[in-house]
Amino acid sequence: MLAGGPERRVEGMTPTTTTNPAPTRSPRLPPDPAPVPPRRVVAGATDVTKVYGAGDAAVHALAGVTVGFEAGRFTALMGPSGSGKSTLMHCLAGLDTVTTGVITIGDADLATLGDKALTRLRRDRIGFVFQSFNLIPTLDALENMTLPLSLAGRRPDRTWLDQVIDTVGLRARLDHRPSELSGGQQQRVAVARALVSRPEIIFADEPTGNLDSRAGAEILTFLRNAVRELDQTVVMVTHDPTAAAYTDRAVFLADGRIDGELADPTAASVGDHLTRQGS
Ligand SMILES: Nc1ncnc2c1ncn2[C@@H]1O[C@H](COP(=O)(O)OP(=O)(O)OP(=O)(O)O)[C@@H](O)[C@H]1O
Ligand SMILES: [Mg+2]
Repeated sequence: MLAGGPERRVEGMTPTTTTNPAPTRSPRLPPDPAPVPPRRVVAGATDVTKVYGAGDAAVHALAGVTVGFEAGRFTALMGPSGSGKSTLMHCLAGLDTVTTGVITIGDADLATLGDKALTRLRRDRIGFVFQSFNLIPTLDALENMTLPLSLAGRRPDRTWLDQVIDTVGLRARLDHRPSELSGGQQQRVAVARALVSRPEIIFADEPTGNLDSRAGAEILTFLRNAVRELDQTVVMVTHDPTAAAYTDRAVFLADGRIDGELADPTAASVGDHLTRQGS
C-alpha cells in the first residue's frame, strides 16, 4: 500500500485544477523509494601512515587513516592547519607515496603500479585543482583547459568540452591569457582543466583559498553542479564552514587521524564540530 493520504501533494506536479476534478481517481503517487544501492568507492585509504623525515625530526603527518570517497559525491576534507589534509590528498592522488597502508583508485592499489602506469592513472583518472591555479601564463584559457589532453596526445571530446566551457561560463574568455582573467575566472579555467579529461575523481586543495567570497561561491557552485549534473566525484580541502556547506559530506582530520564526519553539513554544524575540535 502506498503511504500518504489522497491530499498528499506530489513534489514537482502541478496541483489539479478545480474546474475538472476527478474525485474518484486516486492521485498518482511516487512509488515507495527503492533501497539505495551502496555507491562505488572511487578513492580509498586504508590504515595509511605518512612519516616525513626520520629520527627526532620525524613528522607523523598521517597516523593511521582509513577513509573512502564514493562516486558522485562532493566531500569536504577539513581540520586544523597541519592536520594532514594536503598530505592525505596528495597520497590519494598519487602525487606522494604513503609510508605504510594502502591507497586505491577504483580497483588499483597505487603501490603496485610502476612509474608509467601511475603517471597514466594520474593523467587519465584523476583531476587536481590547486589553491594557486597553476595555469601556464603563455597559453590562453582554452589551451590551458585542454593542455593535459594535448600532452597525452588526445583530442578533447568536443561535446563534452563545450558542456564544460558552458558550465564554467567562460565561453567569452577562451582566448584570454591568465593575466587577462580575474582570480575567479582563472580558478574556473583550472577546474575546467581538471574536468575535460572526465577523471573519475577530482581533488581540490583549498580551491577557493585565494578568492574573494563571490568568486569562491562561483567555484563552489560550479563544483557542486559538476557533481549533481555531470556526475563528477569531488574531494575538496577547505577551512571554511560556508564552503563545506556546499558538499554532501564533511570529513575531519586532526593530528593525522580521522576525527569524525558529518553528512549534509551546514555552516553551523561544521562550525560546531570545528569548535569542539578546538581549531
Ligand atoms: N614535505 C614535508 N616535509 C616535512 N614535513 C612535512 C612535509 N609536508 C608536510 N609536512 C608536515 O606534515 C604535517 C601535515 O601537513 P599538511 O600539509 O598535510 O597539513 P594541512 O592539513 O594540509 O595543513 P594546512 O591547512 O596548513 O594546509 C605538518 O606538520 C607539516 O609540517
Ligand atoms: Mg594543506
